Amino acid sequence: MKIAVMGYGTIGSGVVEVLNINQEKIAKRAGEPVEVKYVLDLRDFPGSPIEDRLIKDYMTIVNDPEVGVVVETMGGVEPAYTFVKAMLEAGKQVATSNKNLVATKGAELIRIAREHNVNFLFEASVGGGIPIIRPLNKCLTADEIEQITGILNGTTNYMLTKMSEEGTEFSEALRDAQEKGYAEKDPTADVEGFDPCRKIAILTSMVCGKQVDFEDIHCEGITKITPIDIKYAKAMGCSIKLLATSKKVGESYSCIVAPFMLPKDHALCGVGDVFNGIFVHGNVLGDAMFYGSGAGKLPTASAVVADVVDMVKHQHTNIYIDWSEEKMELLDYRDSQTKFFVRTSSYPAAVLDAFGHVNYVDADVEGETAFTTELMTEGEFESRVSKIELINRIRLA
Ligand code: HSE
Repeated sequence: MKIAVMGYGTIGSGVVEVLNINQEKIAKRAGEPVEVKYVLDLRDFPGSPIEDRLIKDYMTIVNDPEVGVVVETMGGVEPAYTFVKAMLEAGKQVATSNKNLVATKGAELIRIAREHNVNFLFEASVGGGIPIIRPLNKCLTADEIEQITGILNGTTNYMLTKMSEEGTEFSEALRDAQEKGYAEKDPTADVEGFDPCRKIAILTSMVCGKQVDFEDIHCEGITKITPIDIKYAKAMGCSIKLLATSKKVGESYSCIVAPFMLPKDHALCGVGDVFNGIFVHGNVLGDAMFYGSGAGKLPTASAVVADVVDMVKHQHTNIYIDWSEEKMELLDYRDSQTKFFVRTSSYPAAVLDAFGHVNYVDADVEGETAFTTELMTEGEFESRVSKIELINRIRLA
């Protein structure tokens, strides 16, 4: 099987590397050798092992009948969408790691692949090297998935772990994550939560079979988390984690991405460093946990190559994925119920007036008061908290 790789960045070069490292095993499992015929990239890579296979025009791949499988590791929606669509319409199978593309155009590309009796697979788009897309589509297909709660961004999990364990500054932790190849080209997507927001939209689409738009999900990142918040979390025996959650409520779903305080006995509390953890609850399965390397060159490339092998084994057979273009209307997050940890510069009398009796938290921080609330809707919390001077608030898991 001759394949083409579009985008020779961190993940694309990782795909070439994985195909080399595990060449024999991959050939055995795919049923034939898998060979990279083209690498598409606008940049030159003098001296690199793929120098002689570099091309700059995607139509070279479209027009080559010898290429049966294409890997897309360019990132971003355009021009990746145009290129992928052209490949599927030319009868080529496509594997991608590009969550922006999958979250935005996934349903349409799945339909186009089905119409052309090929496959569009995207295991690497969520959870890096952790299998989660295939398990949801195949192994857990007998279940109604009622809840997914995940640490879905390796960069921010790495940063929060460093900040908590080593007292590292936010900027230093981010630089470190970028050097290790975890972060997006523009790390705003990581630290503002847009990356896990796209990922939970993909997972929710997979479980409900309809299009969940990530723009409809309330999303907060970790930029407001300070060392003082971490000090309070430790005093409470908690860790702060950026969670992406999706819960089935009636016929719809309630989704949110935000930092949460997790007690030590929470299933995701021990997920540190660049690891991702995904907790899934099904109506007949009960609970399951998926855990592993959530970002980085080789783990993500491993998931892409696994899709390539699956597609070599499924030539001329479309693997059904239940994700239509019909939109799923999500519930308003303001109606969901949560407990909050709150830091305020207001006096306790004002806190009493706004929230009634609360549980105070002491972490030896001067000039402020901290407390946790009872369970209340997000909307009710917003209205109550507007009556006090807020320093920060974090949801409790
Ligand atoms: N920037 C992403 C992360 C890469 O840190 O999780 C993997 O999707």
